[in-house]
Amino acid sequence: MSDQVRIVEVGPRDGLQNEKTPVSVEGRVAFIEALLAAGLHTVEVGAFVSPKAIPQMVGSDEVLRRVSQHAVGEFHVLVPNEKGYEAARAAGAKVIAVFGSASEGFSRANINCSVAESIERFKPVIARAGADGIKVRGYVSCVLGCPYDGEIKPQAVVDVAKILWDLGCYEVSLGDTIGVGTPKKARALLRTVAGHVPMAHLAMHFHDTYGQALANLYAGMEEGARVIDSAAGGLGGCPYAPGATGNVATEDVVYMLKGLGIATGVDMRKLVQATNEVSKLISRPPVSRVAAALNAKRKANSQ
Ligand code: HMG
Ligand code: MG
Repeated sequence: MSDQVRIVEVGPRDGLQNEKTPVSVEGRVAFIEALLAAGLHTVEVGAFVSPKAIPQMVGSDEVLRRVSQHAVGEFHVLVPNEKGYEAARAAGAKVIAVFGSASEGFSRANINCSVAESIERFKPVIARAGADGIKVRGYVSCVLGCPYDGEIKPQAVVDVAKILWDLGCYEVSLGDTIGVGTPKKARALLRTVAGHVPMAHLAMHFHDTYGQALANLYAGMEEGARVIDSAAGGLGGCPYAPGATGNVATEDVVYMLKGLGIATGVDMRKLVQATNEVSKLISRPPVSRVAAALNAKRKANSQ
């Protein structure tokens, strides 16, 4: 397997949105700067959502303003509605992400509306972003299972993914929000959705609750998918996805890609450093197997 893979680092948003101890604006900016220094170019840095729903993302405007001063880097922020859009635009967002769901249960819990209503909310956001020259990414959650509705039919994923693509999203990210997928299912889903949204415009956003995320990514890559969402250290989770753990760890993805002969431009030592720094802020060791292995090796070598 060759080619290029694009990594979308979601640690500062997905990674920190569910942490018991919110990380300060200062801490988030330092984390993002460390990720950029490690060679990650595309970083999801915050969310313009209700502060009552996700207090951890308060201050995303300041985070975005401060990191936008960097010459390199593409910074994404989540936007659920027009109110969020206005705040994101005022903070200088150049790329936003709307987030829908393939399941009704998760849509209700997460954004307090049905799937159809969510699309109606996204329409003016996407239209205004287009007029303002702001790129829009689209998420579809619960593509391989829902904590409320259980099994999800691939057709439900296709329906939402196709609408987001037709409305003008440049990329649609397929979220295994609760990390229940397995490779055969992930592969079949990618193949089915790619019949409606070009594979080059699909991203894989896999949480690792059941330890399947890397295998699912590999299966998706065999189908031709080349965009991977991951979080440094394996951070992540959603307060509306009970029991779900973090995103697939960026370190583990980079390690696997290197083994496949796919260069990412990421400096692993610096990436683990970024993870270690944010781990101190949330008082938890990294979940990433690669980060843990490299930390153990470093410790053994220094003794
Ligand atoms: P709602 O209650 O239906 O909205 O919430 P509303 O329009 O009725 O407004 C209620 C209150 O929220 C009002 O304030 C609004 O001003 C305020 P109040 O009068 O009560 O003081 N409000 C806002 N404040 C700031 N920014 C906004 C905004 N909109 C309304 N944009 C809403 C609907 C979507 C706002 C709410 O449910 C919400 O914020 N949910 C957060 C959802 C979220 O961030 N979830 C985590 C991210 S999704 C995820 O993790 C999955 C993903 O990673 C992919 C995957 O893994 O599958 C992307
Ligand atoms: Mg997620």
